[in-house]
This record gives sequence, C-alpha cells and structure tokens, in this order.
Amino acid sequence: MPKITFKNPHGKGSLPMVVEAKRGESILDAAEECHARVGHACGGNLACSTCHVYVEQGLDSLGEIADKENDIMDKAFDVRPESRLGCQAKVADEDLIVEITDESLRAWLDENPEERKKLQKAL
Ligand code: FES
Repeated sequence: MPKITFKNPHGKGSLPMVVEAKRGESILDAAEECHARVGHACGGNLACSTCHVYVEQGLDSLGEIADKENDIMDKAFDVRPESRLGCQAKVADEDLIVEITDESLRAWLDENPEERKKLQKAL
C-alpha cells in the first residue's frame, strides 16, 4: 500500500506522520483517518479551497487536475506548481509527501473550535 507522509499533520513544528493509504483514496480521506489537520469546509464537494495541500513527492502519480479543480484552486492562497486539492487528489501506487498549507490548517481550526481553544491555552 502506498504511504503518505504528512509533514506537518498538527501544524507548524509538529512531527511528520506516515500513514498507509488505500489506492484510489483521496489525500483528504487519508488525512481524516489519521487526524491530520486538512481543512474541508465544503465536505470534499469541490466548492472551497480549504483542503489545499502541497504534494512535494509523488505529484506525477496523482491523476490529472480537472478544470473544475483548477477553477477552485484559483480561490486558494499561495498556489504553487505542487498544489492540489486534497479532496480531489487520489492516491495511486506511489508514496506521497504532503505539506498541509497554512490556509488548510487555519480552516481545520475554524472547523474544530475546541482544538483551537486548547491550542490557545497551551500558548
Ligand atoms: S474540501 Fe472543499 S474543495 Fe476540497
């Protein structure tokens, strides 16, 4: 099974997390299973850009970016050549290294206010 390394699963400075993914599963689904903080304001319905991630390794193994994904990506911040929407990028046979964008981490905290409170108490 291919592996996904989330470089910053719980925000900046968090230790990388390596998880096994199923072929055909989205990066977002894999993130949710291991509790990596990938935002998903629209529930994976290709209507926001909060699942924006950088695929640093294995990008070419993912399917082509559809026009609609490109359209939604236009809403994202700091888009790079390795940008993908986590809900649309499906794992193939290659291992991936994924960095969760600041935008996506912020969105995840917005979606999980209890975790945001814990974080603020810890600071
Ligand atoms: S979760 Fe909204 S586009 Fe991916």
